[in-house]
Order: sequence, then structure tokens, then C-alpha cells
Amino acid sequence: MAKIVCQKIPVNLANRSYTISIAPKSLDQLELIGDLLEKYSHAFIVTDANVGKLYLAKLKRRLKKHLEQIDSTVCPAGERAKVMEIAYSIWQKMVGAECDRKTLLIALGGGVVGDLAGFVAATFMRGVDLLQIPTTLLAQVDSSVGGKTGINLPQGKNLVGAFWQPKGVLIDPEVLATLPDREYRAGLAEVVKYGVILSAEFFEFLEQQTEAIQQRDSQVLSHIIAECCRLKASVVVEDEFETTGHRARLNFGHTYGHAFEFLLGYGELLHGEAVAIGMCCAALLAQHTSGFSNAETERIQLLLQTLGLPTKVPAGLPASEIIRAMQCDKKKVNKSVQLVLPSAIGNVTLVAWPGDEQVASALTNR
Ligand code: NAD
Ligand code: GLY
Repeated sequence: MAKIVCQKIPVNLANRSYTISIAPKSLDQLELIGDLLEKYSHAFIVTDANVGKLYLAKLKRRLKKHLEQIDSTVCPAGERAKVMEIAYSIWQKMVGAECDRKTLLIALGGGVVGDLAGFVAATFMRGVDLLQIPTTLLAQVDSSVGGKTGINLPQGKNLVGAFWQPKGVLIDPEVLATLPDREYRAGLAEVVKYGVILSAEFFEFLEQQTEAIQQRDSQVLSHIIAECCRLKASVVVEDEFETTGHRARLNFGHTYGHAFEFLLGYGELLHGEAVAIGMCCAALLAQHTSGFSNAETERIQLLLQTLGLPTKVPAGLPASEIIRAMQCDKKKVNKSVQLVLPSAIGNVTLVAWPGDEQVASALTNR
């Protein structure tokens, strides 16, 4: 078999450090993470119905070379799986499969499976080791890195969870070939986000590669995923538990975006679509409040539109309701909502709520 070119990105967090391994066809060659696997004899895989059909049998076959016992469970696909009842059923299945504190839990799937299995790993027998194998673009560039895990409550998303860093992340960009188009594009919103918040150079690269990105060119995608993981890792090592404001920059576009998702009902807009519109609003607000240039707002809008993402505030949502929903954001500090606004492409700052009127002034693009 041809030799795999693997990019290894370290996440340096003292005794919670780990490596992100990125390589096309890496699901076929688990030797890339052989050092990690050799520490275990038993693995328990959590996946969802869609991903399970495509990749579970293959993963089990490959794992057999490294481990004595492999068990698995398949959850329903989509956000509805990120709930207490499913976490409870996984805990029980793990007991049934005689998992113990030395079992390796493997999350094979998108951000839903990663967050859910991560939460189960953080809590089962007070914590077991976790390997993330993300299969959506969003999970490969964002949710599998950094250790945020959790489940939803009827009152809101991600309200229960834990920081639980994985022992490793294995990314095979080729699994993105089977990802539905809309899910792929939603992941691209988070990719664009990294350019706006952290790297003008990366933003320019995306502008130059829109065609290859739309064609899911494997080489370009591998580069993009690695760059996003490097950028995210650099933020996470500075502020692992989101206490200094550094990590909060990753929430660019999310305060507006969460309000749209909530008001339209979860599922109407995908998370990445809501974030794309939210980033355009935040850029416009920065233009109104701090002199961010119109030309840069237009560059952000154009890149998102070219990648097939929505940029206009959904019609029919009154500004007053959007403002109210934004003020319920769970990331309040001392009861006040902070916003992440760009100062230039490649740089953002955290600002105090600038007043309802100003925030509403960025909702005019409908
Ligand atoms: P998802 O996990 O629901 O996956 C989207 C859909 O794609 C699902 O239907 C899934 O079955 C399917 N799928 C996954 N991989 C596939 C593949 N390779 N081929 C075919 N189909 C595939 O959604 P998502 O967008 O990956 O994740 C969203 C979740 O991530 C949300 O719950 C969000 O809160 C969470 N999130 C977490 C973090 C974090 O830091 N922990 C960051 C961002 C988002
Ligand atoms: N996705 C935001 C974070 O990991 O902090």
C-alpha cells in the first residue's frame, strides 16, 4: 500500500497533552496511532446510524490487529442523540460489555457523537480515556479538538458537560467524501471563522482556493484541516478552560448565530449556517462601532457566499426577539454578554455589549 503522508499536530497541555494525526486513508492504517493503541486491550466505540453504516465495520476490522476486545454502540443520528437518555444507555451498555477504567472509548462520528461520547468518557467510572475519530468537517476542524464535551437539556444546548481532553485525534479527510453537501458547507463556516479571528494569511488562502474547496480536493482539504487544528490548538493551550477570554474568541459569530438557531427552532438552520450569518452581523457591528472597514465586511460576505453559505439575517425574525435571545447566551460574564468583533481580518477582540440599538443596527442585511 502507498505510504501515507501524515501531519502530526501536538496539543501541549502538560499531562493532558495529545497529538492530532491527519492523513488521507488513515482509517485504513491505524499503525499511525499504534503507540496510543498499544496501551489498551479493550475498546468501546460510539457512533451514529449514518456513520456506523459507512465506517464501523472497517474500523473494527482494523482495530482487531491492535486490541483483544472491541465493542460498540450505534446512536440515532443528529442532535437528538445528545441527551441524557442516550448517555445513560451508553453507560449501561459499557457496563454490559465489561468496560473498566482501562477501556478506551472511541468517538467515531461528527460533533454530536464527539460531544456525547466525550461526556460519557468524562463520567464513566469517573473518567476513561477517549480517542476522537471525527467524520464531519466541523468535527475535524473544531469539535474533536480542545476537550469540550457535553449534552443538551430541554432548556438549551450543551448545558451539561465537562472539559475532557482526548488521548488522541485521528483525522481521515477522505471520509468527508460521503458527507452530505449541506453538512460539508456548514463545516466551511467554522473554517472561514479561523481566518477571520486568527490568520489573514489563511483567509487569503481560502479566497484563492474556493474552487478546490467546493470540489473537496483531498490535498487542499488536508492542508485546511491541519491549519485549522493548528490554530485551534494554539488557542486551547493558551486558555484550556475558557477563563481568560482567549478561547472565547472562537465564539466569533456564535452569539448572533445561536439566537437565529434558537428562534427558528434547532434544525432549521445548521449550526455552521447560523454562524455564517452571525459572522456577517458581527462584522457589520464592528463596522458601526469600531471602524472595521466596509471592504473587509464585504470580503467575509463574499467568501461565505462563494462557499455556498447564507449571509442574510432570516426574514421574519424581529430584531427585539433576536436581541432578547442573544442576551440569554450561556457564555455571559457577570450577567453581561460579551461579543467577539473583528478589528481586522485575522484579529478579533472581546467587547462589552455595546447597547441594544447598536447590536440591532447589524441586523439590517435581510
Ligand atoms: P453531526 O454530528 O450531527 O453530523 C452531521 C450529520 O452528518 C449526521 O447526520 C451524521 O450522521 C452525518 N455524518 C457524519 N459524518 C459523516 C460522513 N463522513 N459521511 C456521511 N455522513 C456523515 O453534526 P456536526 O455538525 O458534526 O456537529 C454538531 C455538534 O457539534 C453540535 O452538537 C455542536 O454543539 C457540537 N460542537 C461541539 C464543539 C466542541 O468544541 N465540543 C464545537 C462545535 C460544535
Ligand atoms: N468550539 C469552541 C471551543 O472549542 O471553544
